[in-house]
Parts: sequence; C-alpha cells; structure tokens
Amino acid sequence: MCGIVGYTGPKNIRDVLIDGLKRLDYRGYDSAGVGVRKEDEIYLQKKKGRIEDLSKEDIPEGKAGIGHTRWATHGKPSDENAHPFVDCRGEIAIVHNGIIDNFNSIKDELIDKGHEFSSETDSEVIVHLLEENNDGDLLEAFKKTVTKISGSYAILALRRDSSELLVTRNQSPMVVGIGEDENLVASDAPALLEHTKNVKYLQDGDIARITGDEIDIWNEDDQLIERKTKKIEWDLEDAEKGGYEHFMLKEIFEQPKAIHESILGRLTNFDEFDLSKYDPNAIQFIACGTSAHAGFVGKYIFEKIAKIPCTLEFSSEYRHSSPSESYPLTILLSQSGETLDTMAAAREANQRGNDTLAITNVLDSSITREVDEVMYTQAGPEIGVAATKTFTTQVVMLYLLAIEMGIKRNVLSKDQADKYRDELRRLPRKVESILNDKEKIRDMTESLAKAEDIFFVGRNINYPVALEGALKLKEIAYIHAAGYPAGELKHGPFALLTENTPVIAIAVKDETFDKMLGNIGEIAARDSPVIVVGDKDKELEKLADDAYFIPDVPPLFSPLLVNVVLQLISYYTAYRLDRDIDKPRNLAKSVTVE
Ligand code: M6R
Repeated sequence: MCGIVGYTGPKNIRDVLIDGLKRLDYRGYDSAGVGVRKEDEIYLQKKKGRIEDLSKEDIPEGKAGIGHTRWATHGKPSDENAHPFVDCRGEIAIVHNGIIDNFNSIKDELIDKGHEFSSETDSEVIVHLLEENNDGDLLEAFKKTVTKISGSYAILALRRDSSELLVTRNQSPMVVGIGEDENLVASDAPALLEHTKNVKYLQDGDIARITGDEIDIWNEDDQLIERKTKKIEWDLEDAEKGGYEHFMLKEIFEQPKAIHESILGRLTNFDEFDLSKYDPNAIQFIACGTSAHAGFVGKYIFEKIAKIPCTLEFSSEYRHSSPSESYPLTILLSQSGETLDTMAAAREANQRGNDTLAITNVLDSSITREVDEVMYTQAGPEIGVAATKTFTTQVVMLYLLAIEMGIKRNVLSKDQADKYRDELRRLPRKVESILNDKEKIRDMTESLAKAEDIFFVGRNINYPVALEGALKLKEIAYIHAAGYPAGELKHGPFALLTENTPVIAIAVKDETFDKMLGNIGEIAARDSPVIVVGDKDKELEKLADDAYFIPDVPPLFSPLLVNVVLQLISYYTAYRLDRDIDKPRNLAKSVTVE
C-alpha cells in the first residue's frame, strides 16, 4: 500500500513525479505529496486527497525529487499526515510505505531530544532518526537508521545538498529504473515504464544510493553488491486505460488475451518446474480476497482432475492454525506477490516443512523469494483495485497444474487431459462472446443498483464464484452482498429475503443442477427477484426474473465464464451508482500491512 516514486536526472521533475504517482495511485489515495530539491532547498507540497488535487504548476524545476500517494495506517488522511516528511532542519525529506512497529518508543526518545513532530504518523520518526544519526555522512546515517527501526518498510530519502536518492526496503517492494543520465525508483513497475524497462529489484535489507549516473547497492550485510538488471515485459499501453472509461472495464476486456497468454506454451510443454519432484497427498491453497476465491475454485479443480484432497485457508488465519502431521504442497496465490499476510503464510508453510509454490502476476515480487517454485500468470499489469483478469489467470494456472498432476499421478488419462486442454484453448473465444453481450448484462443491473442487500448463491465449483461475485459487488458498488452455498440459505439467511433482496443464482448443469432448481424455486417463493447466471434451460427461464446464459462449456470450466458475467454485473451496478470504480473507498491494490 502507498505508492512511492523518485527521480534524479535532467527531465522536468514535476511531470516525472506526478505522472509516476498517477500510475501508482491504485496503491493508496488518501493523500499525495512531492518533495523536490531546488537550489539546495527542499520544496514540499502535500495534500489530503488525490494526486489531481496537488497543484502541479507550483512544483519547481529541480534535478531530484520524491513523491508519495498514501493509504492511511497511522493517522487519518489529512494534509499534516501526508508524505513527504522533513527533519527539523529541512535538510532531508522522506517518503515511506509500510508500518514502523516500534515508532512509539522511537518518537518518545526523539521528542525528549528536542525533535518536533508535525504528524500522527509512524513514518515521521524515520526522518527525525536520520537527522539524529547524521553526523555529516547521510548514507551512514541512513544505514544506522535502518538498524533502529522494525516493521515493514520501503523508504526513499531526498537530501537538499545533493541530487542523490537513498532507498531501502524490508517486506515492501522497491524497483530501481535504469535510464540514460537519469535513474528512478518506484514501489511498482508501472511508474517506470514511461522512462525505462530496465530495472533492478531491490531485496529485503538492501540500501541503494542513486544518482543520475550511478546506482550503488549494499546488501543487508553492508556489502556493495550487484543486483541483476532485468527487463520489464509490460508495455506502457498495458498500464494505460486505452480508451476505456475505467481500468476495471479494460481489464475485464483483456481477459481473452490474458487467458491465451497464460496457456501459451504451457499447454504443449509444461516445463515451468520439475513437477515430478512433488507427489503431494494433499494440497493447501493459501491466499487473501479474490486470490483466495481463485484458490477455492482450485480446490474443486484439483480434487476432480488430480484426485488430491485440498483445503483453502486465508493467509491471515493460517499462522494460527495447528500444523498437521502431513506435509502438503502449499500453493500461495497473490496477484501482487506483496500481500503481507500471504508472505507470512509462505514463511510459516516453509517452517512447517511443506513444499511451497507461489502463483503471482508480478515478476520478482517478494513472494517469489519465499517459495520453492513460482508460476507467473501472464495477465499484464492490473491497475484497477478490483481484481479481475488476475483471478481468471490464476484459475487458468490451476487447471494447467491440475492436469499435469493428474497425469503424473496416473489418475488422468492422456485422452481426458487433451480434452481438458482443448477446453482451455476454447475459453478465450467464449469469454469474448460474453463480453460482446455487455449491453445485455448492463441492462440486467438496473434493479440491482437500487438494492441494499444482494445474495449470490452457487453450488459445487461455483460456490466460490458466488463468494467472488459478492466481494466484487461490495468492493466497487458499496452494496452489501453475501455469497452462500445455495443449500445454506434456508439455514438462516432466508430470514432476510424480501421482494427487495435480489438473489443472483449460479446454475450450471452439473450434478447439483436439480437441487439448484429447487433452491431457486424456494427463493422465488419468498418473492425475492432471482437473476440466474448459468446454462441455458427452459425451467430456469420460467423461474428466473432475469437470466444470462453462458456459452456451452463443461461444468468444470464454467467458473471462469460465470465470473466474467458477475464482474460485468458489479461493474455496471457500480457505474449506475457513480462509484469510484478503479479506486473504491478505503481500499488499496496491494495490502502490505497485517
Ligand atoms: O495481491 P493479492 O492477490 O495477494 O491481493 C489479495 C487481495 O487483497 C485482493 O484480491 C483483493 O481482495 C482485491 N481487491 C479484490 O478485488
């Protein structure tokens, strides 16, 4: 959470900082601010609200600068709590992402020594600590400061007497962008794309000093080291709206391509990692939010295709569970690869002796260093806070993996595996045909936008899709929504059903279909409007108030298609309500606090 950008070089600093921040504002949007070195002074501008609220024309020319977009943790969103923060003498400015766990005691000590604080944040202690430790060599002071703080952080410092930037990270991403006569740093690659695709990913404990033509990096043992230069595969257009009104809509529409790119090569030759090393007797999926729902779909996929018993655990709960006797394969899903709870779960799984695999969308993200194996989804950058195409590609990876495991375990015939692979190949077309129906789906949302509560029900492999549909609606439309296994409504939630409580029922023709018909009948009998998403069926048509029928697909592969319909339903409902779809209130794209 929180976006950071820094630049040192000859370009117009206000464009670099403001444009960079705009590409990062999905990381937090409670306040924004910049600091620019101008003629041995540090110019500061920071405000509660969005980056657009900063007055760009007032930002002076300068050769080095830092910027920040905040997701509030300590201290409410306000001008005072916005970053950057400066020391008492105005010599150093810092921006910070993360949480400084021991800030209270440090703050007390610093106040005793006469430092004056201007905010309620944990972050401000960093700059005063730097000032306290600075006896002329700021790099040394920076290194010393890092040993005094604990928690998760990415810190970027600007000084008034030189155009160098100092940066460090611990459990919070930082990428250095390598330019010509200029260098950059950012908490996420999209902020760098306009300037360079060559980057160095800093690792926990690294400290870097960055000037226009030099990047020096010291590791946690204070050794000067080289971090490999890597090339970002994403293009600038991938990180732009490209004519769509919202990133979310663009990302929904990118799903056919994202599926195609994720299966490309892997269907004919799965050589991601040596699968034969693993013969788990159980699989454990661990993730948060939408990624957890993808893992939940994965449970059904693996149980069916690879015949392995699976469980799903939320990352934040996993550490508090009791270790089991068996040593399962733990699959951690995380779009960002930075979610702190999921990182902690990965460490815990390793400690318990499990084999660990991460599925992530971000190259070299932190989670990739915590696990035995990594699979990358090829979704391209996802900027909208609501996860869409990354859910889809995560699930696609799980199909691929389950097929390979099924074969290795001799529980899946080659013929059946080929049939499954063909289904995956057909998915992009089928998703496209749903996207072509967007107006029809939009029209279905008129009544939903008036509702205060909406239920989503599904059975079997589509139960997790009901959970995901409800999450998406809550997240972007701010309508209370709950997902249930369809058979569970009558065990309590039925008490809430009225003619004003729409129920979105997922009904596909698997072994649960007849029961689902029964459930829908029960709901309709309580006068709740029923919107069906599923396979075409006359009986359903009679029961439903409205329906969208997905293209023909075996039930095992239906979740992705149903989910695209639900994504569009959420999008258009939120659109009708004029919500801030790409940046829903109180949320941030990657959650790097526990
Ligand atoms: O980056 P991750 O996949 O680890 O993020 C997990 C959740 O924070 C994320 O899926 C969140 O639930 C989305 N905003 C939902 O749309």
